[in-house]
Amino acid sequence: MYKCALILAAGKGKRMKSRLPKVLHKVCGKEMVNHVIDTLKSCDMNEINLVIGNGAEEVKKATESRNISYSIQKEQLGTGHALMCAKQFLQDKNGLITVFTGDAPLITEETVKKLINFHINGQYKATILTAIVKDATGYGRIIRDKLSEVEKIVEHKDCTEEELTVKEINSGMYCFDIKELIDNLDELSNNNSQGEYYLTDVIEILKNKGCKIGAIDVDSNEIRGVNSRIQLAEVEETLRQKISKKHMNNGVTIIDFKNTYIGIDVKIERDTIIYPGNVIEGKTIIKEGCMLYPNSRIKDSIIENNVTIQNSVILESHIGNNTTVGPFAYIRPQSEIGNDARVGDFVEIKKSKIGNNTKISHLTYIGDAEVGSGCNFGCGTVVVNYDGKSKNKTIIGDNAFIGCNANLVAPIEIESNTYIAAGSTITKKVPSGALAVSRAKQMNKEGWVDRKGLKK
Ligand code: UD1
Ligand code: CA
Repeated sequence: MYKCALILAAGKGKRMKSRLPKVLHKVCGKEMVNHVIDTLKSCDMNEINLVIGNGAEEVKKATESRNISYSIQKEQLGTGHALMCAKQFLQDKNGLITVFTGDAPLITEETVKKLINFHINGQYKATILTAIVKDATGYGRIIRDKLSEVEKIVEHKDCTEEELTVKEINSGMYCFDIKELIDNLDELSNNNSQGEYYLTDVIEILKNKGCKIGAIDVDSNEIRGVNSRIQLAEVEETLRQKISKKHMNNGVTIIDFKNTYIGIDVKIERDTIIYPGNVIEGKTIIKEGCMLYPNSRIKDSIIENNVTIQNSVILESHIGNNTTVGPFAYIRPQSEIGNDARVGDFVEIKKSKIGNNTKISHLTYIGDAEVGSGCNFGCGTVVVNYDGKSKNKTIIGDNAFIGCNANLVAPIEIESNTYIAAGSTITKKVPSGALAVSRAKQMNKEGWVDRKGLKK
């Protein structure tokens, strides 16, 4: 059967008090609307269509990589009107349509599939995903008749005293028979307290035509919508816990999951241990047996097996097996650190390749360089990659020993098996097997302290 999904994401999100469209606010590192899209992508949908309006260009740009189609709702006249704007998308289609909102990111693949199966098996024309909540404030209420069948949905603002006491709420997520839905959309009116075309009114319209309406209730956590920054933080906390638990179930130790921030798309292999204060973002992959001591930020990086990291920032880079990073290292995008290497305290690596077994233990800057294996950088080495106009490249062979406080002025090549004397400023190529010294010769002025009368 043909199955498609429509995501409503045209609203303003006034209560967020933001310049950013609401659905682009991130939860665990990913835009809310992309959470919904990615979940639906794993549910065998033939097509996904996003209704956009407020900040349409921005929302389109942020979702572009997902390969979906769009409907435009120029004026936000309500959720029912949003559906009318998707008519072109739905035209001539047969099958079922599921509807979601871009501001409820916690919906899961299992629940979407459950909704669809329930809808199909019960031969309903419309099925509502509902939840029982303690505090139903703000939500539409599910009104059932004496036989406990769904009669209609009434918005909070339109509820009678009695309806307000109903604890079963509308999640804003549904499954419809496409034909029944389009045929009845035109009957919606905006004769209600908000002057909007409510999608929820379709239920009553279908019911009055004798259609079978289903309702399936799920964990209220899953359908939580975000209307404010406080709700954003609550949803973030719920998802953060869920992500951490998933990793723990896969064999990762997380010492304090309330203070560990792992993005939704991060992959971590077993026996890795994560201390508090780590922020792991984007498409990062952390392989087996790594030790993440406190307070690092790792984004879009690959960390191979048995790597130790502490108090460092690693962005869009690759760290080889058994390597140690930090404390206080900064590895910037497009860097590749080899196996058994060391990037120690106050070391910054920018867009550089570092070979296996190379040690850069302290207070060093390496930019735009290709460094071989088995090298040793003394404390305070600087690769001088910028001449004020352009960035230049440094190439260092294997087993080079760079003395403390050396400057390597790029473009430059240091061949394999070389020594650079401490304190040298190197501006010319150093051939293999050489020691390069480039500093003033030492001169001792005997008796100088006495002569100056400075002896204490
Ligand atoms: C809606 C439901 C309510 C349900 C609640 C669940 C209606 C009338 N009410 O109320 O029963 O309990 O969701 O969270 O449907 N949107 C558009 N275009 C519009 C208006 C809204 O695209 O013209 C989008 C918004 O961007 C948002 C979603 O639809 O993603 C829901 O809109 P919102 O205004 O938040 O509806 P609620 O008042 O929360
Ligand atoms: Ca809402």
